[in-house]
Amino acid sequence: MDRSDVLRVAIACNIKTDRTSDIEAEFDEPETVDAIKAALRNGGFETVVLEATEEFPQKLEAASPDIVFNIAEGRFGRSREAQIPAILEYYGIPFTGSDAAALSVAMDKAMTKRLVRSCGIETPAFCVITHEEKELPGDIPFPVLVKPNAEGSSKGVSDDSVAEDMTQLRTLVERSMPDLGGDLLAEQYIDGREFTVGIIGNGPDIRVLEPMEIIYRKLRGPHRIYSYEVKQNYQDYISYECPPDLPHELTAKMKRDAETVYRTLGCLDLARVDFRLSENGHVFFIEVNPLPGLAPGYSDFPMLAGYNKIEYDDLIRAILGCALKRYGMRW
Ligand SMILES: Nc1ncnc2c1ncn2[C@@H]1O[C@H](COP(=O)(O)OP(=O)(O)OP(=O)(O)O)[C@@H](O)[C@H]1O
Ligand SMILES: [Mg+2]
Repeated sequence: MDRSDVLRVAIACNIKTDRTSDIEAEFDEPETVDAIKAALRNGGFETVVLEATEEFPQKLEAASPDIVFNIAEGRFGRSREAQIPAILEYYGIPFTGSDAAALSVAMDKAMTKRLVRSCGIETPAFCVITHEEKELPGDIPFPVLVKPNAEGSSKGVSDDSVAEDMTQLRTLVERSMPDLGGDLLAEQYIDGREFTVGIIGNGPDIRVLEPMEIIYRKLRGPHRIYSYEVKQNYQDYISYECPPDLPHELTAKMKRDAETVYRTLGCLDLARVDFRLSENGHVFFIEVNPLPGLAPGYSDFPMLAGYNKIEYDDLIRAILGCALKRYGMRW
C-alpha cells in the first residue's frame, strides 16, 4: 500500500505526570494513549501522539495529520476541554468527538442543567455559589450535595460532600471553595440508584447503549457517592451491572433522555450521560460527559461499551469511524 493511502491519525492528549494530587485527575495515563494507538494501528492507521502543551499548534503543523483523535483535556478554566478542538477548528483539521461549543457548555454543569430542564428532563434543584459572592441557597431541599460546577472525574467530590442542614452547608461550602477560583454547584442530593448511559454515533446513526448501573457494595461515608476516592479504588467499593435490573419503561426513559441531552447539546461521535433514579421512581439527569475517559479497564465508557459487546479496539475505531463519516472522509 502506498503511504498516501494510509490515514494519518494524531492522538491529542494530556498525559499524567503528577499522581500525588488530583490536579491532573482528568489527564490520561500513558497506557491509555498506548491502548488507543494500538487500536488504531491494528486498524491499519498510522498514528502520531501530540501532547496538548503550549507548543501544540507547532507540533500539529509538523505532524500534518489527516484527522485528530482528541482526548485532550486542555489547560485551564471552564472552557479547557474546548481549547484543542477550537485550535483544530481554526486550522480546519478534522477531529473526533464534540466541537468546542458542545464541550464548553457541558463543562458548565449549571448551564447544561438549565438547557436540559428546558427540554422537560428532570434534574435536581440547584444553585451556583460563586467564588466572589459565596451566597448560600435558601430554597434547595436538604440533603444538598456540593461539587465544583466545572470539573470532571469526581474532582472535588468526596464522600462527605453532602450537607444535611444550613450549618453543615456553610462549612461544606467554605471547605469546598477552590482557592484558585471556579464556582460551586449546590444540588439536591438524590438518594437513589445511579446509572450511566453511553452514546456512539451521529444523526440517524446514533446508538444509545444499554445503561450501566453503578452499585455501591460498601460505603465510605453516610451517602452513596461515586466520589474521587471511590473511583480511585472502585474495585473495593463498586460493582457494575449492565443491562441493569430495571423495568423496561425506566430503561427506555433513561436512554431517551440521554439521546435528547446529546442532541440538544449537539454532541458528536460519543458521550456518557449520568442519571440518578429517586426512591419514588423519577429519573434525574446529573451531567453529560462529551469527552469521557477512555482508560481501558478503568473508565466507565469502555466498561459499559464492553458490557454492550463492543471490545476496546472496536470502540476506538468506531469513534474514529463516526468522525470520518461526518467529514465525508474515505477509510
Ligand atoms: N445531585 C446529586 N445527587 C446524588 N448524587 C450526586 C449528585 N450529583 C453528583 N452526585 C454523585 O457524585 C458523583 C460525581 O458527580 P458528577 O458526575 O457530577 O461529577 P464528575 O466529576 O463530572 O464525574 P465524571 O467522572 O462522570 O466526569 C456522581 O457520580 C454521583 O455519585
Ligand atoms: Mg459523572
